[in-house]
Amino acid sequence: MEQLHEPVLLEKSLEYLVTNSSGIYFDGTLGFGGHTSGIVSRLNSEGKVIATDKDVDAVRFCKQRFLDEKRISIYRTSFTKIGVLSKLESIDKFDGIFADLGVSSFQLDNISSGFAFRENTPLDMRMNKDNLQTAADVLNSLDEEKLSEIFWRFGEERKSRQIAKKIVEARRRIKFSESDQVKKIVEGIVPANFVAKTMARIFQAVRIYVNDELNELEVFLEEAVKFLKQNGRLVLISYHSLEDRIVKNFFKYESLNCICPPDFPVCQCDKEARLKILTKKAVVPEQTEVIKNNRSRSAKLRAAERL
Ligand SMILES: C[S@@+](CC[C@H](N)C(=O)[O-])C[C@H]1O[C@@H](n2cnc3c(N)ncnc32)[C@H](O)[C@@H]1O
Repeated sequence: MEQLHEPVLLEKSLEYLVTNSSGIYFDGTLGFGGHTSGIVSRLNSEGKVIATDKDVDAVRFCKQRFLDEKRISIYRTSFTKIGVLSKLESIDKFDGIFADLGVSSFQLDNISSGFAFRENTPLDMRMNKDNLQTAADVLNSLDEEKLSEIFWRFGEERKSRQIAKKIVEARRRIKFSESDQVKKIVEGIVPANFVAKTMARIFQAVRIYVNDELNELEVFLEEAVKFLKQNGRLVLISYHSLEDRIVKNFFKYESLNCICPPDFPVCQCDKEARLKILTKKAVVPEQTEVIKNNRSRSAKLRAAERL
């Protein structure tokens, strides 16, 4: 199990998230069940966890893993559906809501998922295989301008324009279907020692686009605040600056009681804080965890409490 995915910042997540042993919790990113299992281990017989994942393999694995655990309900859907699920489960509000964003080690290592580029892999990248648009479709169909925008916005890739141009040129000769075709383009643009980093940014960008990750995160945060009990906890782990920025800005906005311009003599907005930030700075893994699990190196945990 541990080889499929090692849960990141597990103890810290539980410390911030689980404050009521008979509480009801939502884990939006079940993966291989590392955090869900940790949450349930802190609950008594009245406690419950509702868990979602878009990935069919993760859900199949966890349904088997937690077959005898009646306190866990698993759904294959996006975490944005928290409202629908709470209705289905007759849950009014949650004591804690959690998401460990991004992809699991299993998804990264599984060649057919097409998330990694160390080996030549099919350009897929869909977390939810019911979605029609694959990474290959994106590279084969979007115009140069749009591709460049995706590489820049979601990958912060400085050579976004050049790479998009070369991809569109190459499409006259080839149809993109595997990662080595992209690598060849990148190798023609950046020096050899920058190829891996550039590929990582391009892959991150296409993955975010294919899975609509940033929009889903924004929707989820809004929904999560609605479905948290008073004093309930919201805990997020992110793995890159785009996600972390969204979480950080959301927490900050939701913790403000006034958003009037500073030169207004009296407050004229109706803004009310809905969250209290519990982590002034993002919590990051200790060196020992990073040595044990290299994937944890970019993790940032932020937690807040519903007012
Ligand atoms: C980092 S892994 C979670 C690992 C999990 N915490 C564990 O310990 O096994 C992220 C998981 O979130 C899932 N995921 C990403 N975005 C999602 C979304 N919008 N809705 C549901 N699941 C999502 C991915 O399919 C992946 O399995």
